[in-house]
Amino acid sequence: MQRPMIIHGGTPLRGELRVNPAKNAALPILVGSLLTSEPITLEEVPRLRDIEVLLELLAHLGTRYAWEGRTLHLHTPEIKTAKAPYELVSKMRASFIVLGALLAREGEGEVSMPGGCAFGPRPVDLHIKALRDLGFAVEEENGTFSASRNGWPEGEVVFDRPTVGGTEQVMLAAALGPTEVTIVNAALEPEIVDFANFLQMLGVHIEGAGTAKMTIRGAETLGGGEYKIIPDRIEAGTYLLAAAATRGEILLEGANPEHMDALLSKLRESGHTVVTGTDWVRLKSTSEPQPLNVDAREYPGFPTDLQPPVSAYLATVPGVSLLRDLVYPDRFTHVGELARLGAELHLKERVLAIHGRRLSGARVKAFDIRGGGAMVIAALAADGETIIEGMQHVSRGYEDLENRLRSLGANVFSEPVPLQQAAD
Ligand code: EPU
Repeated sequence: MQRPMIIHGGTPLRGELRVNPAKNAALPILVGSLLTSEPITLEEVPRLRDIEVLLELLAHLGTRYAWEGRTLHLHTPEIKTAKAPYELVSKMRASFIVLGALLAREGEGEVSMPGGCAFGPRPVDLHIKALRDLGFAVEEENGTFSASRNGWPEGEVVFDRPTVGGTEQVMLAAALGPTEVTIVNAALEPEIVDFANFLQMLGVHIEGAGTAKMTIRGAETLGGGEYKIIPDRIEAGTYLLAAAATRGEILLEGANPEHMDALLSKLRESGHTVVTGTDWVRLKSTSEPQPLNVDAREYPGFPTDLQPPVSAYLATVPGVSLLRDLVYPDRFTHVGELARLGAELHLKERVLAIHGRRLSGARVKAFDIRGGGAMVIAALAADGETIIEGMQHVSRGYEDLENRLRSLGANVFSEPVPLQQAAD
């Protein structure tokens, strides 16, 4: 359990930050390291709880790893077991894609039903259908999936809808062997393109990454190498929204504005001045922002992972904003918590109407990573003290949040541990 975060809000955020590498690119890349017996070095890996959880699982499967500052060395000379146990997989949904890597390298794998964030159903049916379409035998018993192959995966997978994890699953499963696999309606997210670039460095032949039709031609064996992960567009977006919510000014360095078009366009529509360079974004906020209508959808649309943070921002903007999440239509655990800070929100038929106003501090909870990001944004904008519980969810996805906010002038600290607990 992590200590609650206390924020004395109402002060505009001001300053500069360097964007961290993307969690959602790092996770599949770490899993991809299972495909090869050669060493891999990843530069600047985010030090996040989700990364540690995945490393624990990889170590169980046979990976040796070592940190050198923020550089991560990974080496899996052989897979020790092709079974990913419930205790490790249930902590994080992203770990489910180890199945694809195990199938490619070992020809079989066993993985429990994944866990993950608590915001509505997140099934794996599309992963399983895709693997079956490629010729893998997949059985489910008591929440555990066992899969194996006879021949090499071959043919076409047509996803009913774009799925980030499902696309990664297929890319992994198809990475080794003499055959070719095509994904139709593949996810377009920048993290998919980064993952494809990493796999190409290992020796997998991939065409069309970042388009709806991607072809993966397996290699006989794969090599190793050094790789640098893309910047985290969701972390960057969360800080931009925090600056906008507090009517502050921020310069994000090491960002990739090309990955952030949908958000930057909404921030401009709301009245803020947003200027970009090749690897930076500057936001200077207006004192009279306008409400917005936002539909979260797959990339290049407005990201669902920024839907809770943008809700928090809009809760500070006078007028009525309307929001829908077309990727996770029930991703609204933050709504009740925002209401505690004085915002008026109505959720009807999966449309969230936000009547924004000046917020005031209260005791609130984070139920998942991005819902937690939303609470932090709202707390920074609210007058008085906000205490946020559930920070362990937030540290899954936001590295060194407290210090980074403090460097921007925020009045933030962790609730002191009671003396007796501290002595334990
Ligand atoms: N879906 C299915 N069946 C499946 C797979 C997905 O119905 O077998 C549905 C989902 O329920 C959802 C939609 O398809 O409605 C898209 O889900 P997707 O598979 O794309 O999501 P994911 O791969 O599980 C990743 C991110 C999430 C992010 C989503 C959407 C990682 C590790 N996770 O999840 O990030 O919200 O894509 O962009 O990449 C986060 O970082 O906080 C986070 C939750």
